[in-house]
Amino acid sequence: MDTIIAKLKDSVASTGATDIRSAFASDSGRFAKFTARLDDLLMDYSKCAVNETVMGLLSELAEAGGVAKKRDAMFAGDKINFTEDRAVLHTALRNRSNTPVMVDGRDVMPDVNAVLDAMSEFCNGVRSGAIKGATGKKITDVVNIGIGGSDLGPAMATLAMAPYHDGPRAHFVSNVDGAHIADTLKLLSADTTLFIVASKTFTTIETMTNARAARKFVSDALGEEAVGHHFAAVSTALDKVAAFGIDETRVFGFWDWVGGRYSIWSAIGLPLMLAIGPEHFVEFLEGAHALDTHFREAPVENNLPMLLGLIGYYHRVVLGYPTRAILPYDQRMSRFPAYLQQLDMESNGKSVTIDSKPVKGPTGPVAWGEPGTNGQHAFYQLIHQGTDIIPAEFMIAANGFEPDLRNQHDLLIANCLAQSEALMKGRTLDEAKAQLTAKGADAATADRIGPHRVFAGNRPSITFVYDKLTPHALGRMIALYEHRVFVEGVLFNINSFDQWGVELGKELATGLLPVVEGKESAAGHDSSTAGLVDTLLKAKA
Ligand code: F6P
Repeated sequence: MDTIIAKLKDSVASTGATDIRSAFASDSGRFAKFTARLDDLLMDYSKCAVNETVMGLLSELAEAGGVAKKRDAMFAGDKINFTEDRAVLHTALRNRSNTPVMVDGRDVMPDVNAVLDAMSEFCNGVRSGAIKGATGKKITDVVNIGIGGSDLGPAMATLAMAPYHDGPRAHFVSNVDGAHIADTLKLLSADTTLFIVASKTFTTIETMTNARAARKFVSDALGEEAVGHHFAAVSTALDKVAAFGIDETRVFGFWDWVGGRYSIWSAIGLPLMLAIGPEHFVEFLEGAHALDTHFREAPVENNLPMLLGLIGYYHRVVLGYPTRAILPYDQRMSRFPAYLQQLDMESNGKSVTIDSKPVKGPTGPVAWGEPGTNGQHAFYQLIHQGTDIIPAEFMIAANGFEPDLRNQHDLLIANCLAQSEALMKGRTLDEAKAQLTAKGADAATADRIGPHRVFAGNRPSITFVYDKLTPHALGRMIALYEHRVFVEGVLFNINSFDQWGVELGKELATGLLPVVEGKESAAGHDSSTAGLVDTLLKAKA
């Protein structure tokens, strides 16, 4: 690996690979060379600083890093999450070909299918009105109470699938800040609301606290005996759910081989299924399954997640770019960057290798973003003219869901394509000055103002184009990014599937609660923490 990385660095220096603008000028076939497809999904990476040599070396890197071997081990149910002694099988949840997937000598597919059937039956009941609230009224609103992977996936996907909504309205409460549940409950009536308590562990403090507030909301309005009619749960910890008092017929399980940030395909997807119906939910699974098959079968040079992972690694390790921007030109994908933050940063924000040694180079970059065109009027300035190079990942559908507003969709597309073109082409000083003089500026003004209007160009971007944001397309896009994170994790030589980095803060918060409540002294804490506690206690109303 080290030799190939060194060769990549040499190649960047000697072949001028980073002069993307010249590469386009000298090769009219560049787009055809550096694009890959899966059905209607096109990945254009021609505006990245790559050439045939770089791509050849990246392919060698995938081979040397054993990406294909480790991919096959993941799909086969090997316990690749060795720090938690778990298999990593979110792919089994969307295994629509239903081939056996073995964990500890047992096929998990019958259990997967049974939960999916139970979810469908429950959703059909709620959506049709056969399953009612305690007073006999139809459920009009569903509130998912969860956080992290038990919130971001369903919240993001439910918003993305708005054109398919024909079920109850969906709400999502995650933050332990009481403002979140209070503002949500204000809009709702207990007798027509169903709460889903979603937590893999059923111990997460935010979720359990919000669940208790919701329970009180129902029992205050309708009496304690009504609670059972207004709650369902999704968890791997069925004993803890039972202790909370949710009837077992309303509990949808999943398994320890499903990571929280990979759980949208499991019963954690229940709010999405309630909103769009079981058939569309299955199309969502099918989209992901199609991408899984592609990941397993396509040769590296046409394998979208391999290419995305290899280029991501190249940007991070070879070129040293610290962040990447996720820029969906789709308002309904507005939570996709936040979803990817957990997927990517909780997976690959690590500094210890699988051999339990400190990593030698950088690991996962900071992932961030906002939908276009909004971001253009906020932070694109820095992407175009700032001192860091930030690879941008654009995504755009050929078609929206509003035929009457086709002009707006064309405007959206024009903006998306213009951004990647501007990042790549830039504007030289001569061009900037010529533009100023054409507008009537004198030479001195053009000299003074010109440099401020220069765009360095050669800034990399990847653009994804797909036909329309259907459930299939959404499932495929999420799976694409999941596998990209996997490929990068293998190359970083880390375990992408644990998240020990979130533990310390949780432990300290538990210890600090009695101090913040004024029941224990802050002595023993550092002076900053003690000082902050003191300030807050004095200001407490
Ligand atoms: O933030 C840590 C984490 O464990 C995430 O990985 C997970 O998605 C989230 O908390 C919620 O956990 P749970 O589903 O167990 O409530």
